[in-house]
Amino acid sequence: MQSDQQPLEPFPTIWLIGAAGQLGTALRAGAPRERDIRALTSADVDLADAESIRTALRDVRTGDVVLNTAAHTAVDRAESEPERAAAVNALAPGVLAEITAASSAWLIHISTDYVFADAAGERDTPYEPGDTDPDAAPPSVYGATKRAGEIAALAADPDATIVRTAWVYTGGPDSPDFVGTMRRLERTRDTVDVVDDQTGSPTYAPDLAAGLWELVAGGHRPGVAGAILHATNAGEVTWFEVARAVFAGLGADPGRVHSCRTDEFPRPAPRPAYSVLSPRSWTEAGLTPLRDWSIALSDALAAR
Ligand SMILES: NC(=O)c1ccc[n+]([C@@H]2O[C@H](COP(=O)([O-])OP(=O)(O)OC[C@H]3O[C@@H](n4cnc5c(N)ncnc54)[C@H](OP(=O)(O)O)[C@@H]3O)[C@@H](O)[C@H]2O)c1
Repeated sequence: MQSDQQPLEPFPTIWLIGAAGQLGTALRAGAPRERDIRALTSADVDLADAESIRTALRDVRTGDVVLNTAAHTAVDRAESEPERAAAVNALAPGVLAEITAASSAWLIHISTDYVFADAAGERDTPYEPGDTDPDAAPPSVYGATKRAGEIAALAADPDATIVRTAWVYTGGPDSPDFVGTMRRLERTRDTVDVVDDQTGSPTYAPDLAAGLWELVAGGHRPGVAGAILHATNAGEVTWFEVARAVFAGLGADPGRVHSCRTDEFPRPAPRPAYSVLSPRSWTEAGLTPLRDWSIALSDALAAR
């Protein structure tokens, strides 16, 4: 270094909330080495408690990034505990946004395909960010509270960025997600029944994490400040087809996967029949589209 050169400004701190969750874990694993990351789990901050949030984030400074991956993600349980789901999914993002707005930090808040309100199941083209229906609430408590959280975040901090994703999995042999579950069922059952009337884009958590790190690296700039972006792996497929691909990828007979309909297995929360998110907002923000779901799945199955 030349003697008259100024020391480089340190990278801003990344406050990663939900650090022990599926996406938070992938973000930590894929974090650029030079980043100063404060990984906050539910032991460090309770998103259901505004004071806990303010205390945990009291040192957020101008230019820092607050990346919120935490949520009440138990979709069925949310139907019977709507107040807790609302506190975590709807109110907390507003509190986070007050903090980032007051400190000129950047809030990146993760949301979901469940925010759309296609209760009749008529949708068959990918959703753009603005396709949320102002006159109809999402049909599940999880979806409604997550949509309320998006609105609260952007109201308190109009420069926040919302990133919606869908069908996230890690796919390890012990993972509780869909792909991990299919891996276990392939070992323990002769056949499995999987719904063939829900369509979406399976999203490999490490791919989404890499996309989020690209977003962070690009900085808090016009085009992402105040935007809602969609980020999933590319392509669309039903859960049945995903399960067949898992079996095939493991060298097992995909014919052991049988198709069924959602209404054969009633659950407390309704599932969207169509969950595909258009990548246009992501690419128009100058970000690299996530690769095809089937290639990502192969990598997930190859990982130990
Ligand atoms: N998984 C999907 O298929 C999917 C699809 C679309 C969108 N998303 C969105 O993607 C984001 C990440 O999801 P994920 O798959 O990583 O979910 P996850 O594995 O369930 O992780 C969520 C994390 O949130 C934490 N959390 C829950 N309540 C909290 C509270 N009151 N205070 C602090 N932390 C709390 C959990 O901690 P504890 O476990 O300790 O409670 C957990 O670590 C969420 O915003 C979710 O809505 C997920």
